[in-house]
Amino acid sequence: MAKLLVTGGAGFIGANFVHHWLRTYPGERVVVLDALTYAGNLANLEAAKGRSELRFEPGDIRDTALVERLLREELIDTIVHFAAESHVDRSIHGPDAFIETNVQGTHSMLKAARTVWLKERTVSSHRFHHVSTDEVYGSLGPDDPAFTEQTRYAPNSPYSASKAASDHLVRAYHHTYGLNTTISNCSNNYGPFHFPEKLIPLMIVNLLHGRALPIYGDGRNVRDWLHVSDHCRGIERVLQRGKPGEVYNIGGGAESENLTLVRTLCAVADAAFRERTDLAARFPAAPAARGEPSASLIHFVQDRPGHDRRYAIDCTKAERELGYQAEVTLAQGLRETFTWYLDHEWWWRAVMDGSYQRWIDTHYR
Ligand code: NAD
Ligand code: TYD
Repeated sequence: MAKLLVTGGAGFIGANFVHHWLRTYPGERVVVLDALTYAGNLANLEAAKGRSELRFEPGDIRDTALVERLLREELIDTIVHFAAESHVDRSIHGPDAFIETNVQGTHSMLKAARTVWLKERTVSSHRFHHVSTDEVYGSLGPDDPAFTEQTRYAPNSPYSASKAASDHLVRAYHHTYGLNTTISNCSNNYGPFHFPEKLIPLMIVNLLHGRALPIYGDGRNVRDWLHVSDHCRGIERVLQRGKPGEVYNIGGGAESENLTLVRTLCAVADAAFRERTDLAARFPAAPAARGEPSASLIHFVQDRPGHDRRYAIDCTKAERELGYQAEVTLAQGLRETFTWYLDHEWWWRAVMDGSYQRWIDTHYR
């Protein structure tokens, strides 16, 4: 039975992973370490509240002594490292936090793992899994082949540069000290608990309020969309079948231009308003409440500086060596995600208006 330390487990992907693990392996210990930044919310773990397997530890990954204590105290043998600053736009306006959390924070995690696992030998086998991004590979042209694990690193934003640096540190700790590491580089995730600053949840919340849907540049940038449940299953496969020192790309096989994606989402919303009579009363400012197309809100705005044109993931290695396969199609995933946001209005209102954050400040700080 594995004993997991999940960093960033109160964030979007981390929380989905914690729920996935508790569902799949009931009884296995899961310790979540999370600093509860604006992106981390205990509301994301609400459904697991009261599970005796789950321990939540508020804290910073840069606190090496705290990480060491958790590794010793809980006899942790598996780290799944999600904690990061993750939004490209924020990294453009304020890169410092990205260097501090993504680079120094990852190094702190590696140092603690080395001390406790390699020097003190608290457990007989261990794994440090680092969750990274396809953005480290840079930007593709329209006809370029998708990123493989051999693609040269060419990060373009402070976010992707900080993730690339953290990947290199993980690689170095394997090569130099023999730490048992794996890295996964995945494409753009979407699904439940996605903070409404990223494209898909932002568009959902805006269209429900009748607010403009801001499309950067010409809207023809391409992303390869991965449902978060597929990503969680991919990480599970890496933990179980991945080889130490290896890197695995995890993708959804669903490339889409941003404008096409937003138009699809608008069509999903329009259909939902036609089918569900309660929606017009709940969201009266939405164009769909008046029978008008949600796509009328699409609004082109100034492009993001240094905006990568296209990402695409080749996950042949994960398919061949791990038996990984994405299961959720983009059409199905967008419908389900839209429904999830309709059914969890309390969640996105709380995380957006800061009321959840105020509650955390009172109870945890
Ligand atoms: P997120 O921003 O939703 O969550 C990040 C979590 O980390 C939050 O809970 C936050 O409180 C926590 N955190 C931040 N700084 C911390 C610190 N110093 N100490 C402890 N906890 C801290 O991020 P996400 O979208 O869930 O991404 C998770 C990981 O996956 C990140 O490493 C990210 O780079 C990677 N990734 C994300 C995507 C995506 O589409 N979201 C794609 C590829 C890779
Ligand atoms: P985002 O969700 O920020 O993820 P990333 O930058 O990591 O790919 O953005 C996805 C794409 O959507 C990206 O090409 C930028 C674009 N975008 C918009 O056009 N408008 C928006 O308001 C946002 C947040 C993103």
